[in-house]
Amino acid sequence: MLRVFVRTVLRPGMVKPCRLLRPVTQIPERSIVHQEGLPKLPVPPLKQTFERYLATLEPIVSEEELEHTRQLVEEFLKGGVGERLQKSLDRRARKTENWLSEWWMQTAYLDCRMPVAVYTSPGVVLPRMHFQDRQGQMRFAAKLIAGVLEFKKMIDTETLPIEYLSKKPLCMDQYYQILSSCRIPGPKRDTVVNHSIGKTPPNHITVVHNFQFFVLDVYNSDGSPLTVDQIYMQLEKIWNSSLQTNKEPIGILTSQHRNTWGKAYNNLIKDKTNKESVRAIQKSIFTVCLDAPMPRVSDNLYQSRVAAQMLHGGGARWNSGNRWFDKTIQFIVGEDGTCGLVYEHAPAEGPPIVFLIDYVVKCMQRIEIVRSPMIPLPMPQKLRFNITPEVKRDIEKAKQNMNIMVHDLDVHVLMFSHFGKNVPKQHKLSPDAFVQMAFQLAYFKMYNICCPTCESASLRMFKYGRTDAIRATTADSLNFVQAMQDPAKQNTERLELLQKAVQTHQDNAYNTIHGQAIDRHLLGLRMQGIEDLTSLPEIFMDTSFAVAHHYNLLTSQVGSKTDCVMCFGPMVPDGYGVCYNPMDEHINIAITAFNSCEETHAAKFAQAVEDALLGMRALLEDTATAKQ
Ligand code: COA
Repeated sequence: MLRVFVRTVLRPGMVKPCRLLRPVTQIPERSIVHQEGLPKLPVPPLKQTFERYLATLEPIVSEEELEHTRQLVEEFLKGGVGERLQKSLDRRARKTENWLSEWWMQTAYLDCRMPVAVYTSPGVVLPRMHFQDRQGQMRFAAKLIAGVLEFKKMIDTETLPIEYLSKKPLCMDQYYQILSSCRIPGPKRDTVVNHSIGKTPPNHITVVHNFQFFVLDVYNSDGSPLTVDQIYMQLEKIWNSSLQTNKEPIGILTSQHRNTWGKAYNNLIKDKTNKESVRAIQKSIFTVCLDAPMPRVSDNLYQSRVAAQMLHGGGARWNSGNRWFDKTIQFIVGEDGTCGLVYEHAPAEGPPIVFLIDYVVKCMQRIEIVRSPMIPLPMPQKLRFNITPEVKRDIEKAKQNMNIMVHDLDVHVLMFSHFGKNVPKQHKLSPDAFVQMAFQLAYFKMYNICCPTCESASLRMFKYGRTDAIRATTADSLNFVQAMQDPAKQNTERLELLQKAVQTHQDNAYNTIHGQAIDRHLLGLRMQGIEDLTSLPEIFMDTSFAVAHHYNLLTSQVGSKTDCVMCFGPMVPDGYGVCYNPMDEHINIAITAFNSCEETHAAKFAQAVEDALLGMRALLEDTATAKQ
């Protein structure tokens, strides 16, 4: 059953009550009940957070470091500073819709100066399509665009089905932030603009081919969306008027370090034509990148190659200039059957993006290309850019930096086909926790130590909730992985340790999605300290604090109905980015690392994960057989 959701323009840090976009009288009672009924994100108890913080440190810092941190925690709690900051946080929580969201948006995304490409923007690899030529590419792109417009109808009419997690309704706000929005670089902090809430929401998408951008109006004058056939014909026109391959890859500017791009952006938009073209891209509903074919690779490397293409476009020679990385959603359709997307992370997490994909993929199976009456449509407008010597210099710099980034990113997609969620479920174990323990085991096997590990978990049970971290490395996970590597241990003992570690992870996941994890609370206390105090408490400058936040394993489950996989770059120079989609019978896992780090290697880690998953299944089956 479809249920309605109220779109609000209230941003998380604002104090005023919601202003609804439509007059209240037009909104069904039930939708107000949903949005207003969502609980506020709680501020966890101070003592609980610090007890959990110390427990988190146990497996990842030395005994001396831990002892030092224990003393700092005691001072922080007993000296009154902790209480004072906690009271300020409580006050902030009472006054705002969500005490965390604005701080999180700033610290995690808008203040981050690293390039969005590779560093913060995730990609999604869709199954390979079987078109091999331009017509196939256009037909597919036309259907995809029509599917997204159908999805947009649910947003426009506020009829998106409400999602649930553990039987609790989730905040749907992120869905209203992903279309018609774009990030804009700033000298110190970026912003995100959402044009769907303005007076004149856009009627166009942008299409980019051979580095040339076009405005494609996707609605008729009566407000009806173009048919697939009409879109196809418009795409053909775009293709035919962008055949030159020697154009300046203007879009590659958006892949730069944010300060560099911020300066180049100001250069670029000094020119009126450039400013209008940039604005047309920013305002568009979404972007479709019609990519040139990439070098062929063997079938077993195909998914990894596509993941790289989604994350960075393959380099200045290939498709990196065929993007506007600031755009929230860019669908990518290659002439060689490649398809997927890349999205700018600030407005939303992965789950709403894959929900959109699932919806569009289903639509595309249904949509038929029917010949429509030949009403001539105007030629899509090509966006002009005046390339001054300064802009040309910026583009050359961006090309060089992009090529360095491309060479540095090591990507491996593991399509683990031996089993999926079914096996852990049969053994009464949480599939997510089981997979996380496989990552722990793989890492331990490779490095003989464990490392700080973050798994993203949703806070969407709360109004404007984003994510918090489940810390997957625990004393119990360490006991388990050590036992697996210890030849003296019996399988029965190993199994008990696995069950315990899985249960601990599941309990931590439960606490996290219910707003009782430690990471965002620690961030809140630190941010409050910066606002309220003259100097930051030592607890936030301690070695343990730095170690605890150096996530060598940055992981996230983004499950979907479509057989796809999301991918993202590592968080730290010597770490891995691991994103996985556990399906019933198989698991898709995308692993990234940096080539500049000698210790990390995506394909080796993938092999270790595969071995770990198989070893853990063998453990479950051996011990089950032994009991019979
Ligand atoms: N025995 C049998 N089955 C079990 C089980 C057990 N002990 N424990 C869990 N299961 C089942 C669940 O009922 C569920 O069943 P379903 O497939 O029918 O729905 C399934 O196994 C999956 O549960 P589990 O693997 O435990 O976790 P999850 O899918 O609920 O995911 C999180 C856990 C933390 C990933 C999820 O809560 C979450 O927050 N997701 C969002 C992540 C996110 O935002 N990422 C950001 C990316 S940018």
